[in-house]
Amino acid sequence: MTTTAATNPAHAAGSVEVHTLGPDGSIEPGGAPLYREIARLMVDAYPVMGVTTAEGFERTSQRFEAMAHERSTAWAVATRHGALVGAMRLYDFVMNVRGSDALTGGLGILAVSLAHKRQGVARAMIAWFLKSYHSRNAALAVLHPFRPDFYRKLGFGYGTPVQRFRFAPASLRVNGARGTVRLMEASDDDALFACSERVRLRTNGLIMKHRDSSRRALADEALRWAGVVDEGGTLRGYMQTSVTIGEHPNTNELVVRDLQAEDGHYRAALLGYLRAQQDQFARITIETQDAEFYLAADDARDGTNVSVAPPAAHRVADTGLGIMYRIVNVERAFSHLPASEQTFKLRVEINDPFVPTTEGVYTFVFRHDRPPVADPQAVPNAALCIGIAELSSLVVGSLRLRDVVRHGLATVEPATAIDAVAALLDAPQPPVCTTRF
Ligand SMILES: CC(C)(COP(=O)(O)OP(=O)(O)OC[C@H]1O[C@@H](n2cnc3c(N)ncnc32)[C@H](O)[C@@H]1OP(=O)(O)O)[C@@H](O)C(=O)NCCC(=O)NCCS
Repeated sequence: MTTTAATNPAHAAGSVEVHTLGPDGSIEPGGAPLYREIARLMVDAYPVMGVTTAEGFERTSQRFEAMAHERSTAWAVATRHGALVGAMRLYDFVMNVRGSDALTGGLGILAVSLAHKRQGVARAMIAWFLKSYHSRNAALAVLHPFRPDFYRKLGFGYGTPVQRFRFAPASLRVNGARGTVRLMEASDDDALFACSERVRLRTNGLIMKHRDSSRRALADEALRWAGVVDEGGTLRGYMQTSVTIGEHPNTNELVVRDLQAEDGHYRAALLGYLRAQQDQFARITIETQDAEFYLAADDARDGTNVSVAPPAAHRVADTGLGIMYRIVNVERAFSHLPASEQTFKLRVEINDPFVPTTEGVYTFVFRHDRPPVADPQAVPNAALCIGIAELSSLVVGSLRLRDVVRHGLATVEPATAIDAVAALLDAPQPPVCTTRF
């Protein structure tokens, strides 16, 4: 699906106005391009970019200009009294939500001018972002939070935690491996896209790869991509690898991200490739949202010999909460839930202080022959009272109803209906996101 990035008119929020930039990088057609100003904001906000010289700054603003021509993305800026006070990147994503595709708005590299922090600029930008994607019929919004607590207050719910395993290469299990592993090149762009789409169509949460960014990633000198092909030469799995240099000799690690395979045999072949790197790497670090990935190794321990809880709970992974999701349109988001065997009418009372138009009461009718549909006249069998953040996590499938209720973040009335309501909402597979933005 091809979509263009948001083109909403400026929307005033307090005294902050937010605008999407045109392809010439200006607010108004024919206006001055703002890439240098954006670069200034970003360099200040992200010292991790390591830009400390005039040449580095020039390269950064040129890169930001080049990004403006990528499809399905856009720059948006915030101004106050005509001055640039914030910038962010918008992404039109196609995401598998419980088995069907949803337009999902992505928000990346949000930065506010050093002189304008804590004045509500970021909140105004996020409010505009949500409104903009709502008007374009998106179901959800997604982002990698710099501060989960800040975004949670704005109604973003936790996604699936990321686990970082660190296996001794020789302990990886490779039985059942099929196919031939080879290194990939920039020309594998089409094959990568085709394979990632086959995986994506069956994987809750996966986002369609943006061709520009996967081309860039395939050509990135710091990364190596390994793929597994079948007898006919079709790519059936792939992974991105990079090297972390260790502090001491022979302690380098190979870091693996975005490991995808069409079945377990092809995945075993990729693990075989990793296992074969044992002469060069002390550890294979695998970043994944598969919490049970420790089953991929005969020795699951991470090499630190740390017991996380005495007498013996061996550390096998570091866990991080990253990606967050937010419902942008409640009816549209619920249309991704499956049909239910039995007809059930669920009243959903949503608390959403940040977006008052979402807050309120909805009644959804679940039936065997179609996804749930809102019907304000329906007489409910049960009521769910919940905040938008947790509801967002339930809909994408990263949380389960019982856990949310157990922690006092939702109630079901009558309480005896909890299993029936969980059967309507809970996902068989938590969402996976490998897209970095
Ligand atoms: C993080 C960042 C985007 C926040 O921008 P901001 O405009 O300062 O954010 P806001 O003012 O909307 O909200 C920030 C806090 O200020 C508070 N605030 C908002 N208006 C306020 C005001 N008028 N007076 C006092 N506090 C205010 C908010 O409630 C919020 O409080 P919290 O920290 O308790 O959640 C900005 O500081 C920044 O660019 N940081 C560096 C880069 C970064 O981390 N980017 C995000 C990566 S995705």
